[in-house]
Amino acid sequence: MAKKTIRDIELKNKSVLMRVDFNVPLNKDGSISDDTRITAALPTIEYAIEKGAKLILFSHLGRIKTAEDKATNSLKPVAARLSELIGRPVVFIPETRGEALEAAVKNLKSGDVLMFENTRFEDLDGNKESKNNPELGKYWASLGDVFVNDAFGTAHRAHASNVGIANNMEVSVAGLLLEKEINFIGGALENPERPFVAILGGAKVSDKIEVIKNLLKVADKVLIGGGMAFTFLKAQGFEVGKSLVELDKLDLAKELLELSKGKIELGFDVVTGKAFDKDTETNVRSFDAIPADEMGLDIGPKTVARFKEIIASAKTVVWNGPQGVFEMERFANGTLEVTKALADLHGKAITIVGGGDSAAAVAKFGLEDKFSHISTGGGASLEYLEGKVLPGVELVDVI
Ligand code: 3PG
Repeated sequence: MAKKTIRDIELKNKSVLMRVDFNVPLNKDGSISDDTRITAALPTIEYAIEKGAKLILFSHLGRIKTAEDKATNSLKPVAARLSELIGRPVVFIPETRGEALEAAVKNLKSGDVLMFENTRFEDLDGNKESKNNPELGKYWASLGDVFVNDAFGTAHRAHASNVGIANNMEVSVAGLLLEKEINFIGGALENPERPFVAILGGAKVSDKIEVIKNLLKVADKVLIGGGMAFTFLKAQGFEVGKSLVELDKLDLAKELLELSKGKIELGFDVVTGKAFDKDTETNVRSFDAIPADEMGLDIGPKTVARFKEIIASAKTVVWNGPQGVFEMERFANGTLEVTKALADLHGKAITIVGGGDSAAAVAKFGLEDKFSHISTGGGASLEYLEGKVLPGVELVDVI
């Protein structure tokens, strides 16, 4: 279903409420450690400014349960960073409601930018934001003429600052980032160019059950590495030593393997360590020869070769979850090789990285510009891949 975007509406002199996801990681001193989510929203922000909007930006930051959380999660440094990036002032209002905010909104002129304080500060008083308190959504909606949702990272939440506002607005459209995320992730799930290969990893099967089930319906191959592979290996009768296994998921892993009819590929070997330690002794072991006192911490060279062969002929790839403990040098090779194999598809296939750890891996290896799309949403992209309807996408008006 086609969704309306910011390009479909008049912005000149309109008070435009724009929900962004500026939930960025912060250093201990309060500075921003990664501004990817801010830069990803710039095309929408700059478009709105160029079209003469009076722009009112807002976001959550962190999870606010105590007064201390509040003290350490102000959006003030984020507003300052945004101002640097767009090269113009961003008026920061350290409130989430009230006269100062309303007066500042009224004072805005065409092309001005305002940002107000962390929407989750409202959670200290009865979880108003996170529980989608109807009065709060209505209040925020009263500050603007139209609503633009560009917060893909928060699209799996139904909160006052997205769904609550949209419930009270006549016009709710997608920003350019939300549109891009829908086009890439939704496009891959609904109408992929084939062969469509999904690559999954990460520690636990339990986190990815619904993703595997959904991808088995649409993908031609599902490659599984990382810690979650060992539950599948154990389900096939291999001894996996001290590797991570979810014993309560063995039956489910068997079921998924049967359901997969050969689509799931686990490879042939692993790199093991004696301990979960960056300096531990490593060995390459085939699946049928993992000693009792070793644990698998990366995919092995034969698995890498098999995965690369499958990836090389793909036309669409979705990747979610590292193939090993890539934060430790000795177990980074599998994730690095998969990243490089996907980078080699640049210009030849659509390559999509779900947010979170796999996006961090791509950034670590410095290959971000070789991917078609790196999602800004960890939880949101996972739920999207599970086939769920995301509230933050559903709220957008259809054409
Ligand atoms: C995220 O970082 O995944 C989003 O900003 C949502 O944050 P949340 O998990 O605290 O709702």
